[in-house]
Amino acid sequence: MATDKPRAVEFFGAQFERQIAAHDYQLNPFEERALPYLSGDVLDLGCGLGNLALAAAARGAHVTAYDACENAVEDLAARAIASGLDLWVKAVDLKGWRPEETYDAVNCIGLLMFFAREDALAGLLAVRDAVRPGGVAIVNAMIEGSTFLAMFDPEAYCLFAPGEIAAPFAGWEVLHDSVEDFAAPGGKLKRFRTFIARRPA
Ligand SMILES: C[S@@+](CC[C@H](N)C(=O)[O-])C[C@H]1O[C@@H](n2cnc3c(N)ncnc32)[C@H](O)[C@@H]1O
Repeated sequence: MATDKPRAVEFFGAQFERQIAAHDYQLNPFEERALPYLSGDVLDLGCGLGNLALAAAARGAHVTAYDACENAVEDLAARAIASGLDLWVKAVDLKGWRPEETYDAVNCIGLLMFFAREDALAGLLAVRDAVRPGGVAIVNAMIEGSTFLAMFDPEAYCLFAPGEIAAPFAGWEVLHDSVEDFAAPGGKLKRFRTFIARRPA
């Protein structure tokens, strides 16, 4: 049945349903890498199941988490209440989102490539603008060279060009910058860039 949900939200909703049923709440490798940088007031954009948001809250962070996937948000809200941790989560369509406040760390793993290029580039600026002086931005997204496109809406996705993710963060201290390839179904490839930088104090 057709819905007006973004295709990626449909795609991940089905995946999250299976993970919730299986109590599969492992951090993925990108989340493991991001965790040490998440302290103070933390914003997680496209939090998915929120395993990283919960892990950051368990380390003492005050976490706000947004995702458009309602089953993931509901499950995370229930886990946050059960844990008693400082985590607030809301279902939000992040296309066109702009920050209304700033944070010590802003995490954005695996989200922006699901927006059309113009929205993805605006999303990068929104991440940047949500970071306080001395705070940290963590951005991870698929980049050019990826050949696995099944989860994308053909009308609206963005494989970032070399340098495109780092460009808005010129003048920031680069804490991590890597490109990694992962095998995908059908002999295809997913290529991700992870960029972590600190805004000058
Ligand atoms: C690859 S998953 C990443 C989830 C999590 N950050 C992680 O590392 O496991 C992409 C996430 O982006 C969310 N997403 C996709 N489009 C969105 C939109 N327009 N607004 C909000 N969330 C969206 C999906 O629901 C999904 O949770």
